[in-house]
Amino acid sequence: MQFDNTVIRNIILIFLGIVAFTQFYKLYNVYYQNNPVTAIRDLTWGDINFIHTTDTHGWYSGHLIQQSYNADWGDFISFTSRLKKIADDNGQDLLLIDSGDRHDGNGLSDVTVPNGVKALPIFMKEDYDLLTIGNHELYLWENSRQEYEDLIEHFKGNYLSSNVEYKLDNGTFVTFGDKFKYFTTPNKHLRILSFGFLFDFNRFNDHSRVTSIKEVIDNQPWFKETLKAYPPEEVDLLLLVTHVPITRSWPEIYYLHSVLREFYPDTKIQYFGGHSHIRDFIVLDEYATALQSGRYCETVGWTSINLQTDNFKERYSRTYIDFNLDSFQHHAKISSKDSFDTEKGVNVSKLITQTRNELKLNTPIGYVKKSNYYIDYVPITDSKNIFHFLTKKVLPTLTPDDENLEIHDERIIIINTGSIRYDLYKGPYTLDSRYIVSPFENLWVKLSIPKGIAIQITPLLNDESYIAKHLKPPHQQDDSDEKNARRQTRFSYPVLDLNDYDKQTIKNSKKKKKLTKGYVTFDDLGHEGDDTPHKAVVNFPIPNVVNSEEIKKGTSDEEIVDLIFYDFIESNIIWALDQLNYTLPEGKGPDFYSKKYLGTLLNEYIRDIGA
Ligand SMILES: *[C@@H]1O[C@H](CO)[C@@H](O)[C@H](O)[C@H]1NC(C)=O
Ligand SMILES: *[C@@H]1O[C@H](CO)[C@@H](O)[C@H](O)[C@H]1NC(C)=O
Ligand SMILES: *[C@@H]1O[C@H](CO)[C@@H](O)[C@H](O)[C@H]1NC(C)=O
Ligand SMILES: [Zn+2]
Ligand SMILES: [Zn+2]
Repeated sequence: MQFDNTVIRNIILIFLGIVAFTQFYKLYNVYYQNNPVTAIRDLTWGDINFIHTTDTHGWYSGHLIQQSYNADWGDFISFTSRLKKIADDNGQDLLLIDSGDRHDGNGLSDVTVPNGVKALPIFMKEDYDLLTIGNHELYLWENSRQEYEDLIEHFKGNYLSSNVEYKLDNGTFVTFGDKFKYFTTPNKHLRILSFGFLFDFNRFNDHSRVTSIKEVIDNQPWFKETLKAYPPEEVDLLLLVTHVPITRSWPEIYYLHSVLREFYPDTKIQYFGGHSHIRDFIVLDEYATALQSGRYCETVGWTSINLQTDNFKERYSRTYIDFNLDSFQHHAKISSKDSFDTEKGVNVSKLITQTRNELKLNTPIGYVKKSNYYIDYVPITDSKNIFHFLTKKVLPTLTPDDENLEIHDERIIIINTGSIRYDLYKGPYTLDSRYIVSPFENLWVKLSIPKGIAIQITPLLNDESYIAKHLKPPHQQDDSDEKNARRQTRFSYPVLDLNDYDKQTIKNSKKKKKLTKGYVTFDDLGHEGDDTPHKAVVNFPIPNVVNSEEIKKGTSDEEIVDLIFYDFIESNIIWALDQLNYTLPEGKGPDFYSKKYLGTLLNEYIRDIGA
């Protein structure tokens, strides 16, 4: 058989056409992945402007495998110094504020003993104007001592804590820093009275002491005396730097606000909050708002106030800046990275790299290949849910440390969902990843009880009437009813024109394919606070606890099984047994089972089996 030349030529042309098309398609995709079409929303500047961070939990290296949060603390330092320059050039003020929780959640902070010795010096390179303490500075005495001896010394006069104290070696309690600060801003000469508050936290170490906000207001004369000493005519703005969730379902800020309003009927008040790891902005009244700036160096919070205008809408602005270089350079209005960088910022980035090398944080343990595993971006039953992965795959690999421990054929292992701090992303799994996903170091314990009782415990702890929010991750502890209501009624404060909302929604949905996934925050000013428009991630509800079940069908309810759990939730388990009218044999508490932390178990699973 003979082919004529034209046929051969056509076949070659078709083949080349297909090759060219596939190559073009590949390039197109790579281009869009690297250049998502996102028009970054500009900042609105006012007379006074604020940059706010909270709940950084040691994430100063940035997020190494998440582009949306790829800046590090050095970039952040360059960013803020560029913004300070803009403020100075325009005769406006810019203050930098941090709301605490600088430990627990990242290898950079947690791999050292005590934790924080390498991370805090990096944090301290940022020139904060005001900062306060979070509960994660108070679990361990060593951490409280670092605050007292290092941070307060370094940030002299700017470290505020109106309700937390440190116990000196001779037993005397002293304030962590100062109870308040009265100062005048450099450019607009605004007179500011500021305080620092922590929520009513009671698991502090015995070298520290927290007095509730209500107790300070009601029973410590210094507070109201200070308010009287600085009457409204001498205060242009009150600043409350707190580690307290600003949500309306958490009463502490609202009590404080009601008292401040008795002394200052129409003085402007700005609150900064933290702890629940969400982005939020609340309007308390016409002259008072509150900003909360997320978590883990994902967010730089921005808010500005125009002091002269009578119009509420013109008075306030807020933006949640994604912690990445595109956003930073956009807001600094400098397109080249070289011109954006400051010498100090570059030095700090170098210090971070050097510290990571020293601590061997990039040491690979394994590789996550199949999927990302999310805390709550997918439902709990999805194979991409990290709790699904843990209960089906990882927990069953737990074995008792003592091989002579009496064990039974069937067992249930329970963990609280708050024991996982962050999603597990595809890519290299390093020493750092372990601290990011599960930094906690608790022991496993075991009770041997009838199966009929054991299988009822998880459902009971997840019952809606059982209030044990501390078992969940912080961002799920907030009252989601309020957030949902806000989403449904759109906004609780009539600031945004609904037509604008609809127009924007339509525009966004057309562009949606090209948007990156991330936060779409609904707050009191609307839904356009995120500097980068995102395809919204959904936070699916997750329960207080999850469990793995190694249970056989057909055995009786009386069969004794092993119930294994973290000692952290022992009191919750005992409560559940009590509800089920089950009494442990006299003097019989849980037996020690294993000291292989959840994080270590995960390391070994990913190293040996892979995920
Ligand atoms: C405890 O030490 C501090 C600081 O040295 C000192 O100011 C204070 O008077 C001492 N208190 C007592 C009861 O000795
Ligand atoms: C940056 O580091 C260099 C080299 O260690 C040092 O000479 C310089 O003073 C540092 N600059 C700043 C602004 O910290
Ligand atoms: C436990 O005992 C109380 C009092 O006898 C009873 O009202 C309750 O229903 C019992 N609970 C269960 C789960 O059996
Ligand atoms: Zn926190
Ligand atoms: Zn906290």
